[in-house]
Amino acid sequence: MADFKIATIPGDGIGPEIIVETIKVLEKIGGLYGHTFAFEEVLAGGIAIDEVGVPLPDVTIEVCKKSDAVLLGAVGGWKWDVLPGDMRPERALLGLRGELELYANLRPAVLHDALKGACPLRPDIAAGGIDIMIVRELTGGMYFGDRGRKQTPLGEAAWDTEMYAVEEVRRIAITAFELARKRKKHLTNVDKANVLESSRLWREVILDVAKNYPDIELDHLYIDNAAMQIIRDPGSYDVMVTTNMFGDILSDEASQITGSIGMLPSASLNKDGFGMYEPIHGSAPDIAGQDKSNPIATILSAAMMLQYSFDLDKEAKAIESAVTAVLESGARTGDIMSDGMRLVGTREMGRLVLDRIK
Ligand code: IPM
Ligand code: MG
Repeated sequence: MADFKIATIPGDGIGPEIIVETIKVLEKIGGLYGHTFAFEEVLAGGIAIDEVGVPLPDVTIEVCKKSDAVLLGAVGGWKWDVLPGDMRPERALLGLRGELELYANLRPAVLHDALKGACPLRPDIAAGGIDIMIVRELTGGMYFGDRGRKQTPLGEAAWDTEMYAVEEVRRIAITAFELARKRKKHLTNVDKANVLESSRLWREVILDVAKNYPDIELDHLYIDNAAMQIIRDPGSYDVMVTTNMFGDILSDEASQITGSIGMLPSASLNKDGFGMYEPIHGSAPDIAGQDKSNPIATILSAAMMLQYSFDLDKEAKAIESAVTAVLESGARTGDIMSDGMRLVGTREMGRLVLDRIK
């Protein structure tokens, strides 16, 4: 029995509709297992630009800091694409990650049995199943480095910097090794140490941390090779750790081989296990407000919240089992629809999951 305060950030596009379904799921879990979840909604992203003139209002950061966890839908949309870089909705995401020091981003890519047909890989390649945990560094590297523009003899030039300090690498390495220990004890480090100095330091630190984890099998892939191996033989990877930018790219690739980006949750954690939880997909403005989006990635993000921030493993499992049962029943939103299945909308999918939570 416990009380939890959750800051919710519905954001833009399909964000609000998937957050609504997820709140219902958490409330049902609370009722069944005797917890109280108090939700406080705050603004971020395009809607914050429209309503208060900035993508990430200070009060949003304050409310998040005072909460036990943050649940985020999605931010962004065409409407704001014309704004300068520091005024775009995406700044809200980067700002939240930086302000809340959420350096560890966990992005599980799991191929559900019921969705095997949606996997774009040849059946024999995916036959052994796919269950990869991508651990992406989230507050360093090029997305947070110095950038700028200058004049050169070749015309105007623009630059971004990739930089990693030892402690930044060490803490994400520890997150990855600890996760590997709870899973199959296999960690793959992904970098570009054949070219980048920042990657060479990255790898040195990974190797140093590895000394404390003799029970974990560690291997290394260059990012280009990793992008290839993940579709050549996805079953041979378990936990993968990498930089902010490489993790951004690799996690989209991993999500696609599981059939739909609409299915995948994520957790972004600080050193104390405080976290922001969000689907890895975006705001999908093309289908927003039409009852077509898939709420499962956000619902599964709430399950990760229960597991990683609140230590409620049983409750997290209850959500995951309900999702599996709904998929097995043949219900599908448009993004995961296939022949012979039953097409449902966002609200119906939410209701079906809710009904199966025990
Ligand atoms: C993600 C997104 C963000 C990122 C964008 C929207 C800033 O692609 O969460 O993967 O690059 O981190
Ligand atoms: Mg991305």
